[in-house]
Amino acid sequence: MRKQIVAGNWKMNNNLQETKELINDIAAHLPQTNTKVMVAPTFVYLQHAVAAAKDSPIEIIAQNMHFAAQGAYTGEISSTMLQDIGVQTVILGHSERRAYFGEDASLLRTKVDRALEVNMQIVFCFGEELEDRKAGNHFDVVQEQLSDALFHLGEKAWEQIVLAYEPVWAIGTGETASGAQAQEMHAFVRNTLEQQYNGQLAASTSILYGGSVKPNNAADLFSNPDVDGGLIGGAALKAEDFIAIIKAI
Ligand code: PGA
Repeated sequence: MRKQIVAGNWKMNNNLQETKELINDIAAHLPQTNTKVMVAPTFVYLQHAVAAAKDSPIEIIAQNMHFAAQGAYTGEISSTMLQDIGVQTVILGHSERRAYFGEDASLLRTKVDRALEVNMQIVFCFGEELEDRKAGNHFDVVQEQLSDALFHLGEKAWEQIVLAYEPVWAIGTGETASGAQAQEMHAFVRNTLEQQYNGQLAASTSILYGGSVKPNNAADLFSNPDVDGGLIGGAALKAEDFIAIIKAI
């Protein structure tokens, strides 16, 4: 059966001291749970974060990576560099990468392929913008994002993939999708996977919701049958809030 996951995306926040303290604080208050807990600090502190999380069930993951194995790509970080310091999972396709760093479907496809080549896990983000939803195009946009970056993959590769539906209009805005809106899209995605692949693959793929998840709305979102957890931004920066969200599953 598919896993329940709560992942914290810290984005470009927290210094070294805060990184270690927050991981220790989360580890100290983690409830007994089958929910997988992941945290994505910035690249430069990943190694320290891995050390801080060593004796806890928290998995340290990366926010991004480059598509090439190595080479003349000034300022970039490769998959094997991440693995070398104990990071096995990477977030790809976050809407901030798409919007501010020009990451399009064909680039994301190469990153997905590279991560899978070295057997990394991927948290793949997708989601529509406000104009798409207003125009009623959100299902088409989501289908295209998934199809362009992921539907060339064979069935086996999907064991490495977690999906994260993050409507762009809900990220960092304080405006969240309702539980019903999240469920509607997650069910659509699962149904799309069933059509593209098969029911077994669709049923075993975790689909997280992201976009202004807070302690006070997490239970409403997570209680839906096709919502398997969350990708948390702002509320992942406070141990108390992050723990409350983990407990809401
Ligand atoms: P948010 O961010 O929870 O601050 O809206 C979510 C994300 O960007 O993954």
